[in-house]
Amino acid sequence: MAGGVGCTVVSLARLAPMSFADELRATALALSAPGKGILAADESTGTIGKRLASIGVENAIENRVALRELLFSAPGFEKYVSGVILFDETLRSTGKSGTSFAEMLRSRGVTPGIKVDAGTRALDASPNETFTQGLDGLAERCEEYYAMGARFAKWRAVLTIDEAKGLPSALALAENANALARYASACQSRGLVPIVEPEILMDGAHGIEVCGAVTRRVLDAVFSALRLHGVQLDGMILKPNMVTPGASAKTSANVDAEVARATVAALCDAVPPSVPGILFLSGGQSEEEATERLRLMNTTQKADRAPWTLSFSYGRALQASCLKAWGGKSENVSAAQAVFLDRCKSNSEASIRR
Ligand code: 13P
Repeated sequence: MAGGVGCTVVSLARLAPMSFADELRATALALSAPGKGILAADESTGTIGKRLASIGVENAIENRVALRELLFSAPGFEKYVSGVILFDETLRSTGKSGTSFAEMLRSRGVTPGIKVDAGTRALDASPNETFTQGLDGLAERCEEYYAMGARFAKWRAVLTIDEAKGLPSALALAENANALARYASACQSRGLVPIVEPEILMDGAHGIEVCGAVTRRVLDAVFSALRLHGVQLDGMILKPNMVTPGASAKTSANVDAEVARATVAALCDAVPPSVPGILFLSGGQSEEEATERLRLMNTTQKADRAPWTLSFSYGRALQASCLKAWGGKSENVSAAQAVFLDRCKSNSEASIRR
C-alpha cells in the first residue's frame, strides 16, 4: 500500500515541466534574498475599499491606482523589497507615465506577483469555517499572468481557532491543505512560484501554546498535501502567520520574545529545509509588533535551527501609516512615500540574520 502511494507521488512530481524547475528555484531564491521581503498590495476591490474608507477616500479606480502608484514609485524601495503581490486589476493597470505596473516593477528589479484566489466562502458542513475559491481555470489564468510578466502567485487559505467549538475542524484542515496544494501545483506547471498562505486568524482568547499546536497541525497537513501533489518545495514560498496569543488573550510584557521563540519552534518542527523562504503575513499585528517580532526571530533564534530565510510579506504592516500620511491627497505623496520607505527599511533590517 505504502509503495503504491509512493509511486503515485513520483509520477505526479513529473507534472512540473523540467523546463520550469530551474526558473522556479531561481525566482523563489530571489524573492527570499537576504534583507528583502514582499509587499502585499493585492487587496481585492472590496478590501482596498475598506482601507480607503478608513482615510475618507472613495473606492474608485483612480484612487486605487493612485495608491498603488505611490507605493511602486517610492524612491529606492527596491533595496528592501524583492516582489510585490498585485490584484488582477492592478496587473492590468498603468501608472501616470503610461507604463504598466508590472513593467514599472520589473524595470526596478522587483518581481511582480499576482493574487489568484477568488476569496473565501463558508464550508457547508462547518459554517464557521471557510474554503478558498478559484481553482477552476487556474492553470490557464496562470499562463496569462506569466505572459503579462508575473512570476509568482498567492493563494490565501483561512483557518480559525475556537477551542470551545473544536476548530479548526479536520474538514477545514483537509480541504484547505488540498486546495493550497492543487493551486501550488497549477502555478508551478505554468512557471509561477506559489506563495502558500495558510493563515490562522488571531481572533480569540486562546494562549500562544494553542496557536503553536494548531500551526503545527496546519503546516503538517499542508506539507503532506504539497508532497502528494508533487509540488517542488524549493520552488515555493511559505507565508504563514506568526505564532501569537489570540487577539483578546491577556499577554505578558515579554510577548514579542515569546512570539519569536514559539514561531521558530513551530516552523522547525513542520517546514522542510528545502523551502527557501518563509515570508510572514502581518495578520492584524501593529507595524511595530510585526517588525520587532521578525527582528527577534532573526537575532535571538539559532540560525542552525532555521535553514530558511525568515522575512516579511506584509500588507497592513507596510501600508497602514503610509495610508494615513497620504490621506488621498496628491500633495502628501512624498511624505507618505517616506513613511512607507521607513517601514520597508525597518523590516528589511529585521529580516537579516545576525
Ligand atoms: P497582512 O500583512 O495585512 O496580513 O496581509 C498580508 C496578505 O497578503 C494577506 O493575504
